[in-house]
Amino acid sequence: MIDVNRLKYWLCIITVVSATANAQPLSPELLKGETLFRNAGGYGCQVCHGLYAHGGNQAGGNIRGATELKLIEALSRQPTMHLLTQVLSQSEIRSISNYLQYLGNTPMVELHFKDGKWHVREEIFQPGDLVQLVIFNESFTQQILDLSAIELGEIPVGAMETIGILWTRQKKYSSFPLLQ
Ligand code: HEC
Repeated sequence: MIDVNRLKYWLCIITVVSATANAQPLSPELLKGETLFRNAGGYGCQVCHGLYAHGGNQAGGNIRGATELKLIEALSRQPTMHLLTQVLSQSEIRSISNYLQYLGNTPMVELHFKDGKWHVREEIFQPGDLVQLVIFNESFTQQILDLSAIELGEIPVGAMETIGILWTRQKKYSSFPLLQ
């Protein structure tokens, strides 16, 4: 069951901020997929899968890298996704899955503020890889995330805000050089 009030609540408080560091702009095709991912049907996939398809503690979970087949299957099987089945054309479904493939090929470091501290979860990546930092503040006060160890400075993250930053790791770190 969709709890419509909860959905509206999230829609109101999710603020979209995209910052970039050393980022390549998305191709028009990927941009189309990203726009659909965020807005399809008026609320997009992000309400249930997180702004960067990372899950973000929402009902749908992480779908980075999901194939077109998986998506078509989910659209027909998941009751909560049925509404979207009616508004998406075949080519739009393809654009969204291309975007999910792109995200799947971009390693992610998730920085999640919860219960008074930052939690880090990182996927495996190599020096030189383009990495997406997904920063999510699951609290009702602004937090300052200090990323000066990787030359990104201090980043203010608003209450319940999600920020995506594309970053290329230049040096070899044994683990993400933060909060140690
Ligand atoms: C109203 C909530 C909601 C919306 C909106 C939504 N989904 Fe889902 N989605 C779910 C739920 C719930 C599941 C099942 C998750 C599970 O089984 O763990 C799911 C499952 C999926 C899966 C299968 C994941 C797997 O591992 O099998 C894919 C792929 C997917 N969704 C893609 C999308 C895409 C793309 C959109 C936007 C076009 C979207 N979803 C919109 C709730 C939603």
